[in-house]
Amino acid sequence: MQKGEIYMRMVDIINKKKNANELTNAEISFAVNNYVWDRIPDYQMSALLMAIYFQGMSSEETANLTMAMVNSGDVLDLSSIKGIKVDKHSTGGVGDKISLVVVPLVAAVGVPVAKMSGRGLGHTGGTIDKLEAIPNYKTELSKNEFIHNVNTYKMAIVGQTANLVPADKKLYALRDVTATIDSIPLIASSIMSKKIASGADAIVLDVKVGSGAFMKSFAKAKDLAQTMVEIGQSLQRKTIAIITNMDQPLGQEIGNANEVKEAIAILRNQGTKDETEIALTVAAYMAVLGGAFSDFNLAYKALEDLLISGAAINKFAQLIEIQGGDKSVIDDLTLLPNAKFSIEVLAEKSGIIQKLNAEEIGIAAMLLGAGRKTKADNIDYGAGVSLVKKVGDVVKEGEALCVLHTNKEEFLTALDTAKNAFLIGKDEVELSPYILARIT
Ligand code: URA
Repeated sequence: MQKGEIYMRMVDIINKKKNANELTNAEISFAVNNYVWDRIPDYQMSALLMAIYFQGMSSEETANLTMAMVNSGDVLDLSSIKGIKVDKHSTGGVGDKISLVVVPLVAAVGVPVAKMSGRGLGHTGGTIDKLEAIPNYKTELSKNEFIHNVNTYKMAIVGQTANLVPADKKLYALRDVTATIDSIPLIASSIMSKKIASGADAIVLDVKVGSGAFMKSFAKAKDLAQTMVEIGQSLQRKTIAIITNMDQPLGQEIGNANEVKEAIAILRNQGTKDETEIALTVAAYMAVLGGAFSDFNLAYKALEDLLISGAAINKFAQLIEIQGGDKSVIDDLTLLPNAKFSIEVLAEKSGIIQKLNAEEIGIAAMLLGAGRKTKADNIDYGAGVSLVKKVGDVVKEGEALCVLHTNKEEFLTALDTAKNAFLIGKDEVELSPYILARIT
């Protein structure tokens, strides 16, 4: 022990939280650091996680946990990039290609976006996998290239580096097997630590709620959004959250290459209404936080104009080019990976689509090869699902509900899963709004 260091035992920290007492910053750092250094065993950390799950954490504890996690690994120093660096995060959904749209859009108004994104797992996709569907796009850049691109072109999207928040990697794996994933302070600190370690000055959060999301109820999604906004603000990062509907997939395309195609359509102002509205909303808040506009409505309108004028799609072409990719995919979508088989999933009766379970569509896409069951699985970039019908649409018996794309000969499980995702009934359906709440 060093002079001035206080003697601590993990068992006392567990006991304190078990009895609903507030942990000090020193206790939280002790637990996180020693766990990352393998000096605290999994069984003690599991007990602490379960105590946090049941007793919760105060705002101060959650902010301290976030910073302890940030400091467990590399913290990107982006101080050489001029301007307010804005980032966005989605809590994960099905068909969510919003990052591909907002990065060039926000960069086009001069606000720097230095983005580190993740890969998909299970039924949700990841931005890095989608970008890797573009021939030769490099998702790894050296630190100098990354900073150069953001300074010069105002944008970069790369994968998270190996040593970004190692505490999160270890804790997430433990939470996964100890039934402690769905704890608001643990989710909030996990997400915010990665944003802060990757150098964001300001953050826009898109918290998804519904059948395809982590948060199944609006109350929980709101709680998570508020907790993350509080963490950001208490750590001097301007933070805004929106809560968006994930009861059915976003847009029509789920997969990798086909989501890139749909992102291109949105950037050409030919996207679906739900995706265009969410992308413009996220981008407008980013542009306001980045100081390009004083007001959300002004930003929204200006960004919409960029979709119409062609400036947004040109900026996406530039993003592809500066990261080594083939930008001609924008004008020739056949250059993107394709799948050998296209299978229509047909309606077994006539009626109106009452529900379209996003999680089941995500699982069908994964089974077709578009996602991973485990981290080690390879992706088939051409695989995925194209939705023909969405909630509220009228369908006739024998009409296509969706089309499956795959290179696999065996697709019956995926076909059944996709078919079961659609609930067809007689009632007219009232569509809920795409954006359910804003926490600013
Ligand atoms: N996403 C994260 O990054 N962390 C969580 O804990 C949950 C979702």
